[in-house]
Amino acid sequence: MKKINVSIVGASGYAGGELLRILLFHPHVNVLQVTSRTLAGQPVGVAHPNVRGITDLIFCLPQELKACDMLFISLPNTLSMQNMAGFGKIARKIIDLGADFRLNSQDAFAYWYKKEHSLPNLLSKFIYGLAELHRSEIKKAKYVACAGCEATVSILTLYPLLKHKLIEEDSIIIDAKMSSSQGGHVLTSASHHPERAGVVRSYKPVDHRHAGEIEQELSPFAKKIKVAVSATTIEMVRGLLVTIHTRPKKEISEKDVWKAYRSEYSKEPFIRIVKEATGNYRYPEPKILTGTNYCDIGFALSERENRLVAIGAIDNLGKGTAGQAVQAMNIMSGFPETAGLTFPGLHPI
Ligand SMILES: NC(=O)c1ccc[n+]([C@@H]2O[C@H](COP(=O)([O-])OP(=O)(O)OC[C@H]3O[C@@H](n4cnc5c(N)ncnc54)[C@H](OP(=O)(O)O)[C@@H]3O)[C@@H](O)[C@H]2O)c1
Repeated sequence: MKKINVSIVGASGYAGGELLRILLFHPHVNVLQVTSRTLAGQPVGVAHPNVRGITDLIFCLPQELKACDMLFISLPNTLSMQNMAGFGKIARKIIDLGADFRLNSQDAFAYWYKKEHSLPNLLSKFIYGLAELHRSEIKKAKYVACAGCEATVSILTLYPLLKHKLIEEDSIIIDAKMSSSQGGHVLTSASHHPERAGVVRSYKPVDHRHAGEIEQELSPFAKKIKVAVSATTIEMVRGLLVTIHTRPKKEISEKDVWKAYRSEYSKEPFIRIVKEATGNYRYPEPKILTGTNYCDIGFALSERENRLVAIGAIDNLGKGTAGQAVQAMNIMSGFPETAGLTFPGLHPI
């Protein structure tokens, strides 16, 4: 199979770096160029020591990008829409890891991001990057917008439960435990080691932006969908865990929940249902997903509490962004969907 040439804008960041790591070992990809304004002219190992010695790639400036088959954009929010006219000339196919094109409507964008969208006509051209929900559209897409990391794991954990009418649609509470790499590589006072180390910090207890994406993507399965997302930062560099509290719609059994998940996910290569009676790893845990494209999903049902708690875990930089982007690229390019994504993680880690 002929290799495609791909480039990454914003490759010195955490999401771009993970994308580079995956793509360097992809059997059908040649990484042509990677950008960083601050590290232009320097080898990529300066930013990502894990790829030292395995590639000769040197960072270039965004304005030095040449034509390629596929362009990945991994920039802070709003920079992708500001520069899209230029990016569109570099590649016919674009995968954006950022938030600019995830929402379908400009009103929703203005509501959640407190800014007017500068390219509202392009919003409908971007396909939401979750293969499990949009595989056939991604296959034909020119432009893909990868889901946010909290949104990825929340949507994947919830949609089978809503589609199979097992839970109430207006009383869903998503308790998200976040890692420090979600904040990107730029140092802030909140990420300074003495301020960040060891914290259990309520970061966004209400009105988290990803609620917009989650409601958008779940609305085909539940018209009155309403989710509340509470995000807490914890002592973890990579990984994301959501504990989702839901009310069963009727009397449901564990068998019903298994059936819903199995019917949606038995053929999905990157979704695993994790619910064991014994052992250390009875429910999903982000630690063992580090570097993988898996989303592990589990659940616990309480008759006494009238509650179904669904649990989802991912690597925020894996299935939560770079892995998801490569999965979308594979689908768009006619490659095997799992190409470059078969790393099973490490244990112990
Ligand atoms: N981190 C995560 O867990 C995660 C998860 C899901 C989605 N995402 C999304 O992925 C995107 C990147 O996130 P990140 O965490 O990798 O951020 P990051 O670590 O801060 O990296 C940002 C990258 O963009 C470049 N950049 C910044 N300002 C630029 C400008 N004005 N023009 C050109 N390049 C610029 C930076 O390099 P230079 O400054 O050297 O140019 C760097 O390579 C964001 O949209 C984020 O929402 C991240």
